[in-house]
Amino acid sequence: MKYYIGIILLVLTGCVNKTPSEDSQKVIMDPNPTSEMAQQMREMTKELEAIKIKLEKNETLGKNLLNFELIHHQQVTDSSFNKPHIEPMSIAYHYAVGEFNKEPSIKNYSSIINNCSSCHQLSCQGPLVKINKLMIKNL
Ligand code: HEC
Repeated sequence: MKYYIGIILLVLTGCVNKTPSEDSQKVIMDPNPTSEMAQQMREMTKELEAIKIKLEKNETLGKNLLNFELIHHQQVTDSSFNKPHIEPMSIAYHYAVGEFNKEPSIKNYSSIINNCSSCHQLSCQGPLVKINKLMIKNL
């Protein structure tokens, strides 16, 4: 059962980001193979979920918890993801992660999640549902 839910979640949240014209030009056997970048996105999501729970419980967090590769250095599933906004937004995201590592507060956590969200508004909107769940509300 768990296994099926996992698959459904992957299908729902994966980045299907093609324009109709691109779709009709190539037959895609597996629309969402796991690229380096997709894999990293999944790991970031998992780690941030764990951090969110701790922050909500007011637990004290240690410094330098997060250590992600630069997003724009990762290989993507489909070259249509290589858009000009990726690099500057990846750098902004990396900066937010660095600030959180120095000072692991709710404010700095929220700024990481806002960066996820901004890049995804432009890249692929599927994961926004997941990203919105990572936001800490009612501050
Ligand atoms: C610099 C832009 C950028 C930032 C910042 C970013 N993403 Fe992504 N994300 C992408 C792109 C592009 C893909 C598609 C990657 C691929 O399939 O190769 C993706 C894919 C994903 C996926 C789907 C992975 C899969 O299984 O196919 C999830 C979930 C995700 N991102 C969550 C997040 C979260 C959470 C954050 C913040 C911690 C984040 N993203 C930050 C650009 C970004």
